[in-house]
Amino acid sequence: MTSDRYMRFVAMLMTGPTQHHTAAWRHPESVNAQLDPQWWQEIARTLERGSFDGLFLADTLTFGNTAIADKGGQIALLDPLPLIALMAQATSRIGLGVTVSTTFVPPYGIARSLSTLDIISGGRLAWNVVTSWNDVEAKVMSQESLPPREARYQRAHEILELCMEFWSSWNGARVVADKEAGHFIDTSALSPVAFEGEYVSASGYYSTPPSPQGHPVIMQAGSSAAGRDFAARWAELVFTLQHDLEDMQAFYAEMKERVAAYGRAPEELSILTSVDPIIGETTEIAREKQAYINSLVEWDVAVATVKNHLGVDVSDLPLDEPADALPDEALSIGALDVLVKGARREKLTLREAVFRYATSDLTPQVVGTPEEVADQLEEYFRGDGCDGFIVTPTQMPGTFEAFTRSVMPILQRRGFIDPGVNGRTFRQHLRAAPAAH
Ligand SMILES: Cc1cc2nc3c(=O)[nH]c(=O)nc-3n(C[C@H](O)[C@H](O)[C@H](O)COP(=O)(O)O)c2cc1C
Repeated sequence: MTSDRYMRFVAMLMTGPTQHHTAAWRHPESVNAQLDPQWWQEIARTLERGSFDGLFLADTLTFGNTAIADKGGQIALLDPLPLIALMAQATSRIGLGVTVSTTFVPPYGIARSLSTLDIISGGRLAWNVVTSWNDVEAKVMSQESLPPREARYQRAHEILELCMEFWSSWNGARVVADKEAGHFIDTSALSPVAFEGEYVSASGYYSTPPSPQGHPVIMQAGSSAAGRDFAARWAELVFTLQHDLEDMQAFYAEMKERVAAYGRAPEELSILTSVDPIIGETTEIAREKQAYINSLVEWDVAVATVKNHLGVDVSDLPLDEPADALPDEALSIGALDVLVKGARREKLTLREAVFRYATSDLTPQVVGTPEEVADQLEEYFRGDGCDGFIVTPTQMPGTFEAFTRSVMPILQRRGFIDPGVNGRTFRQHLRAAPAAH
């Protein structure tokens, strides 16, 4: 069986106890060595050996309440930027994504860190551009509150424009280190940047030489109309949370249209949908594993996670009613419609939807034998639901070990996996297609 495109795989990591599944760290086989640099390097090697195209470090700057810290919800213990440098050192082919917020980090700082990482990784860097979620993060970053969404995205557009100017300002200038002539940088083509925006401005020279990719692969995960528009203009890789094939197809078709409206070819944007594989020796064993890991999620952390992400305290809402029967006032609170949309088809109660959010953010847990998991992924892929998958773990690093050992070889045999080539940049890698037969 062959395909005219490769199925792309990117692993989702976070420098804390959990990624999506708020109880992943509690699994008896999970390792919690988040402060050990070698552990991270070993995970990167496992993923590279297992033919993952990339990995990325999600991020969150702080937590809103001690329930999240106590119960091990979404917390990032370490700054992802230096960690990505360590992972680059341990690998040679895998793409490396890092999250940096345009709402909080000044553009020159972003541009310089990312140029540096692209240089030291040999052209394997991706920037997961986020505009951030909540006031809790704003407050630790010297702001009173999070600016409104439209303003955050306008600022993000300007920052991308400015960063692109920094990254192209060397214009062919380069480090020559000509001792005899006494020239260190050939400055003939170097031009200063002059940018005056509504939110950011800069003038002067950019001090870091061009990196192998020119600029990092732009990755994005916003879900609002403004977020999707931002992705259509800038992103090369989109990470999305969809509930089932029908939702995936709608999002995929819409994004490919939006990209075309910006005059870009649809294949310049890879759309990866999030899945949590749970693999068993038999279907029944896999289902038992799913029930077991999901049973470890605690209500407190589920409520706190929804509040952090969606800005809604669900504790006072009618939890045991079907989620889509909530009164209109409830639906207008924050982003509760995310939960409702995810819960509608399965007629989940609000309580069930909140628990589901704390396991997989309402994205599919793909459960079964390696063959069954591969079949399900193939159905999403062939059905034009996505260009590949963000794999989120329910055990660390067991999910990645099991997936690369058992599911990847099946997909490889079916012709979906890019064998990868050393020396290729991440951008070249993402655009590689199988040879025509
Ligand atoms: C799937 C997904 C993953 C995200 N990952 C992160 C993250 O790791 N760190 C972060 O600060 N924001 C993250 N975000 C937040 C978004 O990048 C964006 O800033 C936020 O969702 C607000 O934009 P929106 O209203 O368009 O969704 C994520 C959002 C989604 C939908």
